[in-house]
This record gives sequence, C-alpha cells and structure tokens, in this order.
Amino acid sequence: MMKPTNLIILVLFYSRHGATRQLAELIAQGVESVPGCDARLRTVPAVSTVAEATAPDVPLDGAPYVELDDLQECAGLALGSPTRFGNMAAAMKYFWDGTASDWLAGSLSGKPACVFTSTGSLHGGQESTLLSMMIPLFHHGMLVMGLPYTHPELMTTSTGGSPYGATHWSGIAGDKAVSDDEKRLAVALGRRLAENAVKLAGA
Ligand SMILES: Cc1cc2nc3c(=O)[nH]c(=O)nc-3n(C[C@H](O)[C@H](O)[C@H](O)COP(=O)(O)O)c2cc1C
Repeated sequence: MMKPTNLIILVLFYSRHGATRQLAELIAQGVESVPGCDARLRTVPAVSTVAEATAPDVPLDGAPYVELDDLQECAGLALGSPTRFGNMAAAMKYFWDGTASDWLAGSLSGKPACVFTSTGSLHGGQESTLLSMMIPLFHHGMLVMGLPYTHPELMTTSTGGSPYGATHWSGIAGDKAVSDDEKRLAVALGRRLAENAVKLAGA
C-alpha cells in the first residue's frame, strides 16, 4: 500500500526479452519488504542506429519510462540492464548521457544504489556489466553497494548471483527460469538497498 510519506526506491531497468525485468521485479519485492519503502519500477526506451526512430510516449507494456523527476524523488536506486558485449545496453547508457543537469544539481548524491544484470551465457560478462553500471552512479555521487558473503548462496550458486550485484543466467535461448539462488539474492539486494535508504534518510 503506497503511503505519501514512504521513501521511493527507484528500480530502473532496460529489458529487451524480459529476463532483466524478472530480476527488477524481485528487487522490488525485496524493497517492499522494508516498512516505509515503496518500489518505483521504471524503464527506458530502446535506441536505434537509425536516428529517425522514435519510441511511443509510453511503453506498450510493462513499467513506464523513467523521467528526470524520478531521480530527484527517489531515496535509492537499483539499476539493471541486460549484458551487451560485457557492458550495459546502449539504451541505458543513452539515458545516463541525458542526466548532466542532475549531475550538476547533485540529485543522486549521497543516495544508496545497487546494480543487476542478465546474461545469455554464465561467464558472459555479468561482473563487467555490473561494474559498467556502477561508473555513472559513482560520478553522480551515489553510495554503491553489493551483497556480503553472509548470504551463503554466493558461495554455492551454480547459476547467477554475485557480490557485485544481482544476476540471472537466462541461457542461450533466454528461457532459463530464475533459479532459487538468483531469486533469494535479488530479493536480498533490494531489501538491503531499502534498509540502507531508510537509515540514510534518518527515518
Ligand atoms: C547485442 C547483444 C549482445 C549480447 N552480449 C552478451 C554478452 O556479452 N554476454 C552474454 O552472456 N550474453 C550477451 N547477450 C545476451 C543477453 O545478455 C541475454 O539474452 C539477456 O538475458 C537478455 O536480457 P533481457 O531478457 O532482459 O533483454 C547479448 C545480447 C545481445 C542482443
């Protein structure tokens, strides 16, 4: 139940085929398990090498497009993208390239953040993608966090899940279900983000 006084935790993701979206929803579940926190799920439009291509004003399905106001209003941020050649997707990078005014204003400075990704192959660059998403967050002054090894799944997982952030191995056809380890770690990351947002807000 959304209360006007609750802290907003922005869960911002890009997902072409739905794998990263599943992680976003699990992180949102972890966020909402913390009293006083609401998850706000937002996405970004696709980009094209054809400059004339434009996206509809609102997505055809799923989360609404993010607006710069969301950066100002949030008390924390979870950022997710599928892995594209070991890096975040261009659509997400394009969004960050349009945030210079918020960088100058310090809209995100001092707020906690975490990252998540999905890959087709297990060793296809999950951690490099997570690191690539941390970089703009550091420039924005965010307090970037991962997960500690007190979560035993980090030691035993044979699917995704990393101390750098939540991950999912979607398989070559993109049809692997989110594993129990991936699920537990994604929920735990969302919960950790929200708990720290509450502490930092002094609420
Ligand atoms: C252009 C492109 C580049 C990709 N690069 C990688 C890669 O470097 N490593 C990998 O494991 N998977 C790679 N993939 C696969 C996606 O990361 C994977 O299918 C992901 O789970 C898709 O997430 P989504 O369902 O949220 O769109 C790539 C896919 C595309 C389209």
